[in-house]
Amino acid sequence: MDFSVTPLTPELGAEIRGLDLRKPLDDTTMARVRRIWLDHVIVLFPEQDIDDDQQIAFSRQIGALEMINMAALQVPGKPEVYRATNLDQDDNFMPIDHPVMQTNRDNQKWHTDSSFKHVPATASLLHARIVPEAGGETEFANLAAAYDALDDATKEQIDDLIVVHNFFWSRKGVDAIAFTEEEKAAIPPVRHPLARVHPETGRKVIYIGSHAEKIEGMGWEESRALIDRLNEHATQPRFTYRHNWCVGDMIWWDNRAALHRGLAYDATGQKRRLHRTTVAGTGPTL
Ligand code: OGA
Ligand code: MN
Repeated sequence: MDFSVTPLTPELGAEIRGLDLRKPLDDTTMARVRRIWLDHVIVLFPEQDIDDDQQIAFSRQIGALEMINMAALQVPGKPEVYRATNLDQDDNFMPIDHPVMQTNRDNQKWHTDSSFKHVPATASLLHARIVPEAGGETEFANLAAAYDALDDATKEQIDDLIVVHNFFWSRKGVDAIAFTEEEKAAIPPVRHPLARVHPETGRKVIYIGSHAEKIEGMGWEESRALIDRLNEHATQPRFTYRHNWCVGDMIWWDNRAALHRGLAYDATGQKRRLHRTTVAGTGPTL
């Protein structure tokens, strides 16, 4: 199948036009697209008029899917699909104090999906169904480019460190309302290499973000200072791309090589609904 590829920025992202994601891609096309995705970290497919089942089918061509860890966030009957939205199941506004609205605000902190799991996610795909007139963009940061740009002393300092990612660190204060005890017990803190070797590209990435709580073997203050410094370094404008959504846009990103965050919008006056599928990881990071 023939398609066009246009880089989004020199460091991050490629736009692919000419493919129809309603139908399965043949193996050769899929392998070519996957290579482009590995090289560019995120791939944008504009103007895709797909439904949940087609999104699930395309995502399964990439790998096995994660189920969403909180019932309130799923599309009813489809635990593979996460609703990133300020709307209830009837597309009416949710009250601002609804636990799901807090989860949306937590997605405004830089993070990588499922890094709080022992086997974190490989990829995520967001498809825009309803978009606000202003705001609500999603930003991405390239963690491999950020690692490469570190000075040698910092690379040496972080190369053998272990970072603890903890969902209830990044979500402290609000989780109690939204999660059942069983859902909570299923996500204890986990250990990852701070300088993670990407399993497909072999590049090192700074495996960081808001779920990163502390560095093993370091005092609390020192550990927080290092995490904050690395988060700031990795999210400088030169490593990032901001996507302004149009209905039909599909973005497929590499959770092993990118941070992302949603940007704020008028969540009580503007409707926004994006559907996400999440490709599970293939093994532990250590
Ligand atoms: C997500 C996420 C941000 C956004 O769905 O994983 O972080 O812009 N979304 O909705
Ligand atoms: Mn996310």
